Amino acid sequence: MPAHHQEYNDQSSAPVRVLISAGPTHEPIDRVRYIANRSSGRVGLALAREAMKRGCSTTLLMGPIASSEPIKGVTTHHYGSTADLEKLLNEHLPACDVLIMAAAVADYRPVLQPGAMHSKIRRDPENLTLTLEPTPDLLAGCAAKARPDQCLVGFALEPENDLLEHATAKLKRKGIDLIVANPLKTMDSQTISAWLIGKDGVIDQTQGDISKEQFATWLMENLLSR
Ligand code: CTP
Repeated sequence: MPAHHQEYNDQSSAPVRVLISAGPTHEPIDRVRYIANRSSGRVGLALAREAMKRGCSTTLLMGPIASSEPIKGVTTHHYGSTADLEKLLNEHLPACDVLIMAAAVADYRPVLQPGAMHSKIRRDPENLTLTLEPTPDLLAGCAAKARPDQCLVGFALEPENDLLEHATAKLKRKGIDLIVANPLKTMDSQTISAWLIGKDGVIDQTQGDISKEQFATWLMENLLSR
């Protein structure tokens, strides 16, 4: 276990600085339209509340989600697109001890025609083709410039078959410290089951399906006791 993690338990040290991203991204097509995903952001918000309750200095990067009431005691910055989130991460990564990337970042975004953000695409009888380009992998980008004393945590939503293998491969590919693996059925569900995986394998798993609030408690307990 890296030496830096031990200080998390040291009551005399400064509060752990936790940076959490939550929610979907909206990738603009033109001035009025976007491509999005169905992330509710609930897991990320529950994590921010739990981190704050545990005395962490908590910063939340919050995507475009319906219930966006400010959480008392949590510094919140809002993003829309992957590009916005990338800027916020660049700004706030250096001042965190733990990054938890719970945001559902788009993998592709529309290639915008010049001036697209100042107008709207008009109806036309012909088919319309959108060209999508891959977005940068934000977590891998953070991992490439993170300090050794920082802990980077990602999420992997995977089909139930080979869940752990896929999540472990993702952890290695992105160069992060920990990954939370969830089965695909977690999407749109009120409950969650999860495995916490490190470079040396499974660290912990939830006792079956638990609420997203219980999940936040389980994950923060794991992260802060390392
Ligand atoms: N993520 C990111 N930047 C992206 C896509 C994803 O930082 N462009 C982050 C997510 O916030 C999450 C983790 O990477 O913490 C895993 O996301 P996921 O979509 O499951 O993985 P992908 O890298 O997109 O791989 P795949 O599409 O093969 O599942």
